[in-house]
Amino acid sequence: MHNKKPTSNNSDNYETPSYVWDLILKYIPRTLVIYEPFFLNGNSGAYITSKGYKCIHKNTDFFKNDVTLSSYDIIVSNPPFSKRKEIFEKLKELNKPFALIVPLQTLVNTYFKTLFNNNVQIIIPKTRIGFIQNDVWTNRSDFDSVILTHNLNLPQDIIFESEIVPRPPNIFYCPHCTVSIKMRGKASHIKGKQHLINAS
Ligand SMILES: C[S@@+](CC[C@H](N)C(=O)[O-])C[C@H]1O[C@@H](n2cnc3c(N)ncnc32)[C@H](O)[C@@H]1O
Repeated sequence: MHNKKPTSNNSDNYETPSYVWDLILKYIPRTLVIYEPFFLNGNSGAYITSKGYKCIHKNTDFFKNDVTLSSYDIIVSNPPFSKRKEIFEKLKELNKPFALIVPLQTLVNTYFKTLFNNNVQIIIPKTRIGFIQNDVWTNRSDFDSVILTHNLNLPQDIIFESEIVPRPPNIFYCPHCTVSIKMRGKASHIKGKQHLINAS
């Protein structure tokens, strides 16, 4: 039996924090059906759906044409970085509007410039996007990401956003550790005592 589940390397498995979807969705009418092709854990599609969109989001191989062209209006995603070139080639073939979260460098890659040299607009987040891996949102990254769009008809070609980035909810996340705090107060009931916090 053919396995339709995609393969990927671990550096591809980064989840997008939800505030980044908001940067894109505010430019997309709710009447449009969104196809989010890169699944990971399903959270992105669930978030987009929670914002009132119909969103097609299945754990199948993007290159296998599982989702029919007529069933959606626009592709929105954070694609696996290692397959960017093939993905943009496929997007050219599909000829649907798209908004993809990609490293800034993508804009000047030869393959991108060759494939898409018109109707390209970008949304630039205020701060560098930190992605989530294995449920941990580090809130930092080695590179800047932007949202590259094609045929989206944004109000400006380059939009500088001014979003407020929420604090990572799991900033103290520590799956298997116990934190020990030595109390320094003067009161006799806390002085010199150790407090254990189960941070899992
Ligand atoms: C950077 S993650 C982003 C996940 C999700 N879209 C998000 O933004 O949170 C990219 C995902 O694409 C998956 N992937 C890799 N190759 C794929 C393919 N050919 N078709 C569909 N998904 C693929 C990877 O396994 C990974 O889970």
